[in-house]
Amino acid sequence: MLRGKIILIGVSGGIAAYKIADLVSRLKKLEAEVHVVMTRAATEFITPLTLAVLSQNPVAVEMFEDTTRPDIQHIELAQKADLVLIAPATANVIGKIAHGIADDLLTTMVMASTTKVALAPSMNVHMYENPILQENLNRLRSLGYQVLEPGAGFLACGDTGRGRLPEPEELVDHIIKSVKAEKDFQGVRVLVTAGGTREPIDPIRYISNRSTGKMGYAIAEAAAERGASVVLVSAPAQLTPPPGVEVIRVTSAGDMHQAVMQRFNECDVVIKAAAVADYRPRQIADQKIKKMEGGLKIELERTPDILFECGQRKQHQVLVGFAAETENVEEYAKKKIGQKNLDMIVANDVSQDGAGFGTETNIVTIFYPGGKKVEMPRMSKLDVAFGVLDEVGKILSVKRKEPQ
Ligand SMILES: Cc1cc2nc3c(=O)[nH]c(=O)nc-3n(C[C@H](O)[C@H](O)[C@H](O)COP(=O)(O)O)c2cc1C
Repeated sequence: MLRGKIILIGVSGGIAAYKIADLVSRLKKLEAEVHVVMTRAATEFITPLTLAVLSQNPVAVEMFEDTTRPDIQHIELAQKADLVLIAPATANVIGKIAHGIADDLLTTMVMASTTKVALAPSMNVHMYENPILQENLNRLRSLGYQVLEPGAGFLACGDTGRGRLPEPEELVDHIIKSVKAEKDFQGVRVLVTAGGTREPIDPIRYISNRSTGKMGYAIAEAAAERGASVVLVSAPAQLTPPPGVEVIRVTSAGDMHQAVMQRFNECDVVIKAAAVADYRPRQIADQKIKKMEGGLKIELERTPDILFECGQRKQHQVLVGFAAETENVEEYAKKKIGQKNLDMIVANDVSQDGAGFGTETNIVTIFYPGGKKVEMPRMSKLDVAFGVLDEVGKILSVKRKEPQ
């Protein structure tokens, strides 16, 4: 659910620092990329090793560990991150940030950050109620920092009152809300196909391809995150469907054809990211074909051309095709737009490093009927999915202005 998001956690020296181990492990389970920076005081409460293991990234504490190379990487990360969360935020760290002091890695990183910064104050109730602290928090709020409300109750110091660090699940909720996408697809019905179809030869064997479904699943995830109601027609894939998405599982091109045609009319956007077999065995043997002397000929026939049929039936729908090619990508992609009556095609050269089947990243170019093209750099498949939806959004808004 947080796949593709970079969360930078700053840990300062409060007793609640131990809760950050749980927070980091929850964020990892949601597939976020997590980086941790700690103050020196924080390392008295929880070891950098624990957080490095749980985040699967090195934890930075010192700015001048290697005196020839200050830790620039974390400063860069503070600009790239989707969110910087300081948790727990001590009275000291809050005071420093509010007054522009940058005398260690964490505070320097916050000073250099161009991204959203949230602070989760956690301290003794009297420290929390101290007017200096409250004034510092107000100053930070007025400067656009997010300040999380601490919980009330029994505190580690023995006092009772406000000052508790919110529980890790509450911190995760805040992070999700903070980094979640704009709901610009609210009310839009999106059908996505994904995975590689299987065309049976006999009860044991089939013809398939190398598609893993990652690109289609990423599109379904991005569309759902942006508020669309999503139907994912999935050929076999070893992936967990994104939450909130209706999944129709199919096996062969014939099954996929049936599922897509059944739902086509009720959709606003159809994105065909599946790798559908073009041919299938003409006969499916009832029993396992036994090994024999000599070769074996299997006669193949064409499968239904789902994309072509969608193009013929298209009314108000935005129809998006995918083209995975190993040569002449642009030529084939442009030809396919006209043949299939598409609104756009997402083409990739699967022979390139970092593109195509099974990889975490993709490098795509989007072609339009008029000849316009949009090239995208190598990105995670989820980021490609968001980019594709940005383009779909533009077509949708143009279509909505046209008389039907
Ligand atoms: C046992 C113990 C617990 C502490 N807990 C907190 C705390 O919860 N919140 C806080 O603001 N300071 C707490 N402090 C004080 C900070 O550790 C101290 O102000 C330190 O200078 C903070 O450094 P930092 O902001 O660079 O991490 C605690 C100190 C000790 C010894």
